[in-house]
Amino acid sequence: MSTTEKILILDFGSQVTQLIARRLRELSVYCEIHPYTMDESKIQSYGPNGIILSGGPCSVNDEGSPRASDIVFDLDVPVLGICYGQQTMIKQLGGTIKSGEHGEFGRAFVDVKKDSPLLKGFEAGHTEVWMSHGDHVSELADGFEIVGVSDNAPLAVIANEKRKLYGVQFHPEVAHTPRGIEIFKNFCYDICGLSGNWTMSDYKDEAIQTIRDQVGDKQVICGLSGGVDSAVTAVLIHEAIGDQLTCIFVDTGLLRLNEATEVETLFRDHYKIKLRVVDASDRFLGALEGVADPEIKRKIIGAMFIDIFEEEASAIGGADFLAQGTLYPDVIESVSLGGPSQTIKSHHNVGGLPERMRMELVEPLRLLFYDDVRNLGRALGMPNVFIGRHPFPGPGLAVRMPGAVSKTGADILRLADAIYIDELHKNGLYDKIWQAFAVLLPVRTVGVMGDSRTYDQVCALRAVTSEDGMTADSYPFEHAFLSKVSTRIINEVKGINRVVYDITSKPPGTIEWE
Ligand code: XMP
Repeated sequence: MSTTEKILILDFGSQVTQLIARRLRELSVYCEIHPYTMDESKIQSYGPNGIILSGGPCSVNDEGSPRASDIVFDLDVPVLGICYGQQTMIKQLGGTIKSGEHGEFGRAFVDVKKDSPLLKGFEAGHTEVWMSHGDHVSELADGFEIVGVSDNAPLAVIANEKRKLYGVQFHPEVAHTPRGIEIFKNFCYDICGLSGNWTMSDYKDEAIQTIRDQVGDKQVICGLSGGVDSAVTAVLIHEAIGDQLTCIFVDTGLLRLNEATEVETLFRDHYKIKLRVVDASDRFLGALEGVADPEIKRKIIGAMFIDIFEEEASAIGGADFLAQGTLYPDVIESVSLGGPSQTIKSHHNVGGLPERMRMELVEPLRLLFYDDVRNLGRALGMPNVFIGRHPFPGPGLAVRMPGAVSKTGADILRLADAIYIDELHKNGLYDKIWQAFAVLLPVRTVGVMGDSRTYDQVCALRAVTSEDGMTADSYPFEHAFLSKVSTRIINEVKGINRVVYDITSKPPGTIEWE
């Protein structure tokens, strides 16, 4: 990206490093996250206007614990160290860090002791922050002063104003530090001198040019899923290269109600994008018959998507490029300091294409977060009803049907889900929720309808609020709303006679049931 104003975030392995980037994007500041191992020459050629060192799980006093490259402190750009980032900065510049004794975990309060541009607006402060540290700075490096203190971290905020080096012991990036955004604002605008002028419309123009440069006069194919990411990818690429783009929409038989028609209306009729709709529902449902294991379902679906793409690509006479709506959280090279991280669900990891396909990837969203994509969709003038849609997983209803997948199950679930979503719209709740859907359980229970006994399946409703899908809370519906949805589903959907509401947060649950 040729964006001129930018902040470099070096990741020391904190679980919340991505939130730093999100906060900066909220301030219209362009930033990228790179591992702390990024080498000197790359840091130099990246040319950041400021650098943020993230938190991390290690103790700086441990042998072999991560260090920032020395160039970080020699580039003459402002640096903000957060938690571990603060500690390694001080240690590398000659101070001392004390381990153990009094850690601080959770809510704490910081009092301002000295004026500093980092804490502009906090002068009279007794400010709530979120701490999570065992170690703390005990002796400052040369040129540093104390700017803020908390009960257990006498050096909660420190500064070397002359060199524009700053450190905070707490985490300004998390929601539990309510005024954290102001600290980032002070750092980016006042200390680094950025104007916060990064807009989606700039991004759009740059992305269009990059796509044209990459693709030239070649052909691109792009899979549409009905979701926001692939839709924005397609519209953006279409704006860049017009008819060199062919979109492929695969009806897996595991989509939401009317999904195929909606996609056709928007892309073929409205945008006049070349679109091939492939009805592969029999193939998908056939391959999945009797399969109950969620990871095997994902593998079968992933492999079949690739087969169908290959067939479609050859049907249009071949394409050199495959467009994908890969997002930033999938491509950030995560720093793993505690051993390899566990795969919770396989589709979350970016999968490679089989070698034999020989197609180059076009991924114009790979520097964006989920919210950025919606903003880009708006900058492209896409209709709100499409951009505001809840996320939908690639494997579709297959992972909303614990146990064996069947056509009958998919048909029942589709209807129940449509009623639930319809009621969310009618009651003005849809946009307050990050993701809502119905799940069809492989459990039959006894009921009574009229004078007859029923023995049908249970439907679970899920609705969560979330910022990015990484953590989530269940939505606190009014009881009357849930009763209404339950009554409608049981009355209108043959095959379901009981409805329950899932109140699990993430963690420990995941959003999808599988
Ligand atoms: P979980 O269930 O992991 O979901 O809490 C987080 C977000 O990811 C979506 N999700 C998937 N998306 N393929 C996808 O494309 C998948 O296999 C998959 N599994 C979950 C989920 O809908 C939620 O938005």
